[in-house]
Amino acid sequence: MILLGVNIDHCATVRQARYREVGSCGGAIEPDPVTFALAAERAGADGITVHLREDRRHIQERDVQRLRESIATRLNLEMACTPEMTAFALKLRPDSVCLVPENRREVTTEGGLDIVGNRERVAAVVDAMNAAGIITSLFIDPDEPQIELSAALRAPWIELHTGAYANAYGTPRRAAELQRLRIGAVRAHDLGLAVNAGHGINYVNIAEIRTLPHLHELNIGHSIVSRALFTGVDEAVREMQARMRGQR
Ligand code: PXP
Repeated sequence: MILLGVNIDHCATVRQARYREVGSCGGAIEPDPVTFALAAERAGADGITVHLREDRRHIQERDVQRLRESIATRLNLEMACTPEMTAFALKLRPDSVCLVPENRREVTTEGGLDIVGNRERVAAVVDAMNAAGIITSLFIDPDEPQIELSAALRAPWIELHTGAYANAYGTPRRAAELQRLRIGAVRAHDLGLAVNAGHGINYVNIAEIRTLPHLHELNIGHSIVSRALFTGVDEAVREMQARMRGQR
C-alpha cells in the first residue's frame, strides 16, 4: 500500500494572505494549519509534510513546533540544505527531512535538488541526520546520476520530483515523463533506496502516478488543500487515498 503524506503548506498560504502582519487577532486567526493536519490524520493520512522556507512565506517556525507537539503520525520537514535549517531540524527532531532546492523568486519548488552539483553540502546534512537518527529524503529529478549519488551518500530515501510529468500531462511528453519516473524508481529501488514521489500530483494524474513501481509514499499538497475548500479535509484525504488504491 502506498502511504500518503499530506503537505499542508497552502493552508498556511491562505492564513498568511490575511495575517502576515498581524501579531494577534483575538484568537481568530484562520485557517490553522495544525487543525488541518489533525483533520488529515483523522481521515487516514500517514504523515504530515511542511516546508519551512527561508522567506517564511507560508509555514512559520511556530507551526512546525506545534505540529511536532501534536500530530500522531510522522512529521516530514522539507528544508533547504543550509546550516541554519540543519540546526533547526536537529533541535526539532522531525521523523524525516526532505532536502529541497530553494529559490526566493520561485512560486513553488521548481526542479529537484542537484545532488551532483552540491555533493559536499548534501553529504554534510545526510551525515548529520543519519547520526541523529532522522531519516533524510532527497528530492531529485529522476536522473540516474542523481539517484546513484543519493545512494552513495547513504540517504535512505529519495523523493522523485513528479513536477515535469505533471506539467507534461495533456501534452505529447506525458508518456516519456512517466517512463523517466518509472526507470528512476526501478533504479533507486535496485540501489536500496525507498522511493517517494511528489509535486503536482492531483486527483486526475494519480491514476498513472500510482502505477509507478516500488512507491513507498506520495507527498501531496496543493490538490488536497484545494479540494478541501469544497469537500472538507476528511473527504479530500479519503478521496485521494481511494484513488491511490485505484478504487475510484
Ligand atoms: N514534495 C516536495 C518536495 C515539494 O516541494 C512539494 C511542494 O511544496 C510537494 C511535494 C507537494 O507538491 P504539491 O503541492 O504540488 O502537491
